Amino acid sequence: MNILVTGAAGFLGSTFAFEVLNEGHNVIGVDNFCNSTDKNIKLIQKHFPDSFNFYEIDLSECCKGLESYLKRENIEAVVHFAGLKAVGESESKPILYWENNLISTFNLVKVMRNLKIKNIIFSSSATVYGNNQNQPLTEDNALSPMSCYGSTKISNEFFLKDISKLNEFNVISLRYFNPVGAHKEKVIFEEYDQQPNNLMPRIIRVAKKIDQEILVFGKDYETRDGTGERDYIHVSDLVDAHICAMGKITRMKGFNVFNIGTGDKTSVLELISTFEEQNNVKIPYQIAERRDGDVAICYADPTEAKKVLGWKSKFNLAAMCKDSWDAVKNGTN
Ligand code: UFG
Repeated sequence: MNILVTGAAGFLGSTFAFEVLNEGHNVIGVDNFCNSTDKNIKLIQKHFPDSFNFYEIDLSECCKGLESYLKRENIEAVVHFAGLKAVGESESKPILYWENNLISTFNLVKVMRNLKIKNIIFSSSATVYGNNQNQPLTEDNALSPMSCYGSTKISNEFFLKDISKLNEFNVISLRYFNPVGAHKEKVIFEEYDQQPNNLMPRIIRVAKKIDQEILVFGKDYETRDGTGERDYIHVSDLVDAHICAMGKITRMKGFNVFNIGTGDKTSVLELISTFEEQNNVKIPYQIAERRDGDVAICYADPTEAKKVLGWKSKFNLAAMCKDSWDAVKNGTN
């Protein structure tokens, strides 16, 4: 299959591209490097010189360039990872987020229509559910994003749902829970050098002694130990969900949405202690105030993904913690 991967330089996009190239598919990657470097692209080019093409394109700026490049590529499916994703930043830069995350999808879909490309898998997020009491979350729960980032994700879903009614597109939207871990060959991992927001890259910074301690945001939630509970999922499982979706999409009409999580919840303190046990490193932490916008609990009911896509997560928390650290512990990166 010839697959267009947007956001191909990022953690998830590049891990997915690497895996499907390994499986023998051809990948055409695009990225504007607004939130990444060309490191992963160079690595993929080195491993797959004959089956990977890359174009540096800002999807939110133009579609003419993209269309002329893609004309010769005979694309069968698009996997649309590209998008800005920092919750806090989205609140202070709403115009940037709407422009980058929405206009890019409009442009992409216009190009798909002109080139008669039917199949698109979209990277959505559990953030669309907001602060929801119905845990674990099924796909039919109320949608109430609490950040501008979340609004752009759900708006993309609305847009894709509307265009899917044209019978010209098959759409699968995957709502990711909390991706961690690293590619199994440990060549691609989540960046941790640019003041990350997420918990795992912050733990990595402490393990690497870049930071002295983790701030645990809140210990007074109604959870097992008072800290926030999330559904952490190994990036390899996430990639696998996309591969299952790709296998089904040509037979799936209209708009389809799936939660991509393990169905297990883990607290902040449990993640820290599992990381310590698996990797034999100490992660000092201090309890701090709750972080604005955080919910107490967010975890998936992944039944629908199993039933329809035939996908189920395989990696446990220990493997997630081990792989996250193994990928970076020896490098100077
Ligand atoms: N946390 C800390 N200290 C930190 C960072 C995080 O205690 O330094 C806590 C948070 O309060 C939360 C948990 O760790 O309880 C997870 O926080 P993350 O920032 O890692 O992840 P979020 O659940 O806030 O959000 C992530 C992605 C979103 C996505 C969401 C889906 O950043 O894009 O998961 O569940 F939508």
